[in-house]
Amino acid sequence: MKQTIFMFFVLLLVISSCKKEEMPEPIVTPEPQVINTYTSIKSIIDNNCVQCHATAQNAFIADFTSYTNISSYLDNPDNTMIDRLNSDEEFYKMPPNGELSQTDKDLLIAWINDGYIE
Ligand code: HEC
Repeated sequence: MKQTIFMFFVLLLVISSCKKEEMPEPIVTPEPQVINTYTSIKSIIDNNCVQCHATAQNAFIADFTSYTNISSYLDNPDNTMIDRLNSDEEFYKMPPNGELSQTDKDLLIAWINDGYIE
């Protein structure tokens, strides 16, 4: 009797181990790491900022017509670029008409936060 019970459990073990099916590993495609450069964001600044932010237009505001000028503005830890892009305040937000898409805003901010690579 003892042997029968033992055999029963051995059989059960064999059967249960046979049924074990391996689930296929889900295929995970990693998000591509996008590195924004000045070249990739330049058109946003040219189309939305440079009509005012050019020394030729207005000598009293920061000039954003070249990488050298923008990066030296951003090198100042007191710069307000991200703050103004995110702002809703009428006389503070940039561009003043507020017409910058969220995608463009996000791109500019990501570029600045990633160290404004040329
Ligand atoms: C219609 C003209 C105009 C446009 C377009 C414009 N700005 Fe400005 N911006 C100004 C003026 C005028 C000031 C200075 C007055 C003030 O402080 O608000 C200024 C100030 C700033 C400042 C603070 C530093 C400074 O020069 O005084 C930042 C940063 C800035 N703008 C960023 C931007 C960015 C980024 C864009 C484009 C997304 C942009 N601006 C588009 C007119 C403009």
